Amino acid sequence: MEIESITKGFKTAESRWARFGPYYAMFPVDFAFDVVNKYSKKGDYILDPFAGRSSSIYAGGVLGRHSLGIEINPVGWLYGNVKLNPAKKDDVIDRLLEIYAKRNYYNRAIEKMPEFYRICYSDEVLKFLLTARNNLDWKNNNVDATLMSIILVYLHAKIGEGLSNQMRMTKSMGMNYSIEWWKKNGYEKPPEINPVELLLNKINWRYKKGMPKVTESAVVFGDSTIELQKISERALQNDIRFSLLFTSPPYYSITDYHADQWLRLWMLGGNETPKANAEKYKGRFIDKERYYNLLDSVFGLSSIIMSENSVVYVRTDKREFTLNSTIEILRKHFPNHSMKIIEKPLKEDTKTQTKLFGDKSMKPGEVDIIMKR
Ligand SMILES: C[S@@+](CC[C@H](N)C(=O)[O-])C[C@H]1O[C@@H](n2cnc3c(N)ncnc32)[C@H](O)[C@@H]1O
Repeated sequence: MEIESITKGFKTAESRWARFGPYYAMFPVDFAFDVVNKYSKKGDYILDPFAGRSSSIYAGGVLGRHSLGIEINPVGWLYGNVKLNPAKKDDVIDRLLEIYAKRNYYNRAIEKMPEFYRICYSDEVLKFLLTARNNLDWKNNNVDATLMSIILVYLHAKIGEGLSNQMRMTKSMGMNYSIEWWKKNGYEKPPEINPVELLLNKINWRYKKGMPKVTESAVVFGDSTIELQKISERALQNDIRFSLLFTSPPYYSITDYHADQWLRLWMLGGNETPKANAEKYKGRFIDKERYYNLLDSVFGLSSIIMSENSVVYVRTDKREFTLNSTIEILRKHFPNHSMKIIEKPLKEDTKTQTKLFGDKSMKPGEVDIIMKR
């Protein structure tokens, strides 16, 4: 498969699913395909223990590698899981209509929702969302997972492009911030959107070129420090070794993937307010020792199942603590590999996500760490 046919435009099924799922701090799709293409060959095994929306895993699968990801955030996991194996279009549409038909059971429930939801969504949309939230078995059922992930993609976006009032697509902003912003900027009323019409359009577009062809690949929902122990046991038993470790770990104290995705996490059954979700995982990314131990454990466990001549490709933050810890840990677990570091300074005129959002997480830049024998 020509890489360009996937990374440029939307002419193939593989390209239409490649960008599936807005996610904070995601790999550019062409970068994921280039790394897989350059550092592995068909039939190889690829590992990404911090998979995010699974661009690395998808690129591997599309290019004929077996790839395995692990992701702790259900939003990222669901995007990855679905793009590797979307359900049949007709089944997804039938399920959409089934869910929509039940929405009036939620006439009363929407009245109890916090103000944020009532300004963000029209009554019709909110009833539909609550029905989907309570009925879709997205963890276990492929049709439900596919429909839920499509709802998640369009859960918040620029007005007219998704189900919500004016919002950013990649990151969900706080409740009070959003309410104030809507009121100040003339968006007091949510747009009247027919959720079935909107989602049918989106489903038709996504499936227009068919289903992506992907070599057997998977993304596990869980914590890498635990899942990698099980995976390594199985890999060693079956004599499987991974030849490319391609990942991007969380950046120390920069992004909280749970807080940034709080509205999508609510849709998946999480708390109605942003805070409670975020608290659970906060410690790991703001406490230096816990952060260090997380990377140490994950790269240590990964190294057990890598082949002797494996390549390690890690994209991370340039800031001192994250970069120095990552280098130290990688050297410890891959002592016989050489290391090359490529700086990726941000161009001043690039409108990066963080710059557009104007938040505190302005990136000074990223670096790629490449290790080989
Ligand atoms: C920098 S992002 C990776 C983004 C990814 N490269 C992409 O293209 O979407 C780091 C990811 O690591 C995940 N993560 C953090 N701790 C984890 C853990 N213990 N186990 C598995 N995933 C974890 C976060 O949820 C986040 O999605």
